[in-house]
Amino acid sequence: MKTYAVAIIGAGMISKSHIAAINNLPNAKCVAITDIIHEKAQAAAQKVNCPCFTDAKEMLEKVPEIDVCILSLPTYIHSDYVSLCAEYGKATLCEKPLEMTVEKAERIRSVVQKTGIIYMTAQVVRFWTGYREIKEMMKNGEFGDIYMSYFSRCSEPQKWGNDWLFDPVTGGGAMYDMLVHDIDFMNYLYGPAESVYTVATKSDTNCYNNVFASLIYSGGAKGVAETSFTMKTGYPFTMTAKIMGSKATAEYIYSAGYDINQRNGAIAVLKLFRDGKTPEIINVEQYDAYTKQLAYFLDCVDRGVQPDIVTLDQSVEVIRTIDAIRRSADTNSIIRLR
Ligand SMILES: NC(=O)c1ccc[n+]([C@@H]2O[C@H](COP(=O)([O-])OP(=O)(O)OC[C@H]3O[C@@H](n4cnc5c(N)ncnc54)[C@H](O)[C@@H]3O)[C@@H](O)[C@H]2O)c1
Repeated sequence: MKTYAVAIIGAGMISKSHIAAINNLPNAKCVAITDIIHEKAQAAAQKVNCPCFTDAKEMLEKVPEIDVCILSLPTYIHSDYVSLCAEYGKATLCEKPLEMTVEKAERIRSVVQKTGIIYMTAQVVRFWTGYREIKEMMKNGEFGDIYMSYFSRCSEPQKWGNDWLFDPVTGGGAMYDMLVHDIDFMNYLYGPAESVYTVATKSDTNCYNNVFASLIYSGGAKGVAETSFTMKTGYPFTMTAKIMGSKATAEYIYSAGYDINQRNGAIAVLKLFRDGKTPEIINVEQYDAYTKQLAYFLDCVDRGVQPDIVTLDQSVEVIRTIDAIRRSADTNSIIRLR
């Protein structure tokens, strides 16, 4: 079994989950870490005993054995760094959202197509216990006809010196950073959305931080995705999925700590309700989704194939959908995507 040499670019909050995932896998080793803030790169690198850098290009030059780069960078520079990694022929796992604009998302697609690097957007919810069971149940027709779906992701403002996240151009607040998970998952269940209509409010930095987006899909499915960054002190990072079908209703609730890194002691329950039957608590497989995601990506690298659990075309479509959700909020009108 080959051991993959993995580099981290961006040693902020979510890099901790990626580094833990690398450490959990027998076929992965963290060989270099870059952050423009030297102290952050150094602190992370010391824990795994690898060299640190403040410039990604220098890292790629000096550590040629790198096989895979994980980009845990502010969203608005994802396309620049996918391009850089592609220039060096590195397989790249890039954090969500793919980018801030459709144009920059398209740029990533053309760079990946041109260079042929193995690429995946880290839409971790597709690997998340609870969500995976819902996807499977839907595939097996266990819900019958779907009347409505509801997805939600709410937390206190996610602040850790990451001002970029609360700027409409660089991070987009909850509408981009949080909603993208649920829009991606809804597209995974139903295919690309046909139209969207959004009710949303902005908070202090001009980002939409409270959002209800309603979506209609070509197969007739309808759903609502909610997000908020304005919950008050002590409200845990909470995600919810509800499927209302003619045969069954499912409800999944996952409640972590202040942020998604605080998963120790998280509450996760998936319940299934059917007419006339005792509600069932589904035993979901227990594993770390970030580890599952990386294991899958490395398996794709090993086989030399593009990932098909999350495809780049789907990631670009998610950014088109989020863009439409924002335009709907801006104009208070229905936006048609096709
Ligand atoms: N999958 C998830 O569950 C999840 C959760 C949170 C964040 N994210 C995503 O991960 C990405 C990073 O989010 P975060 O919360 O870790 O942000 P963060 O601000 O905590 O970390 C980003 C890091 O990148 C560094 N950086 C900035 N520019 C750089 C550059 N040019 N070169 C090298 N380093 C640079 C910063 O110094 C910072 O340490 C975002 O796209 C975000 O949406 C995903």
